[in-house]
Amino acid sequence: MTDSGFRIQDPDLTDPAVREEFINDLSRFLGPYDDPREEMVEALNNALDRGFVFEIVSPGGVRAGAVVISRTPFRLFQPRYHLAYIATAEEFRGKGLGRALLAEAHRRTGRQLALHVSPSNQTAIAFYERCGWKVKYTRMMPAKKPAG
Ligand SMILES: CC(C)(COP(=O)(O)OP(=O)(O)OC[C@H]1O[C@@H](n2cnc3c(N)ncnc32)[C@H](O)[C@@H]1OP(=O)(O)O)[C@@H](O)C(=O)NCCC(=O)NCCS
Repeated sequence: MTDSGFRIQDPDLTDPAVREEFINDLSRFLGPYDDPREEMVEALNNALDRGFVFEIVSPGGVRAGAVVISRTPFRLFQPRYHLAYIATAEEFRGKGLGRALLAEAHRRTGRQLALHVSPSNQTAIAFYERCGWKVKYTRMMPAKKPAG
């Protein structure tokens, strides 16, 4: 529970309709930084099986932010967990909720955690840096999308 009464909890996403609504909210929170639906579903399914999925809700019960953490097959070569998504609703930004979600991600993963961020997402980069993260690698990919 934060000072302002927001609380972090694990959503029950067993019902496909509720899961759908969760992805819709997450996609809305991510705005221009969301991913194609099937990519979000794949990350979410992995996280529900082997990683972590949690949300932060307002005192009135409104979902104000969400986190999806997938598990990698590695322990040493790469961090054990991948922070697939972290986002707060636009109307709840700047109130410390993102920081509270990231602290929870640290706690659950023992900081065995990394993420990808678009270089154009300067808000997120500033946020991560304010929360004690640093750029360690630049991710590069073939300019053409992989076949299949
Ligand atoms: C990035 C994001 C999660 C931050 O959430 P938030 O709830 O606004 O973050 P907080 O209020 O907890 O801010 C935590 C710190 O980051 C800083 N920060 C947040 N947004 C910032 C911005 N636009 N510019 C500079 N610093 C910023 C805050 O000043 C704060 O620092 P402080 O505690 O030292 O004062 C939110 O902007 C978001 O959901 N963005 C869209 C989704 C996204 O880009 N996700 C990341 C994809 S990789």
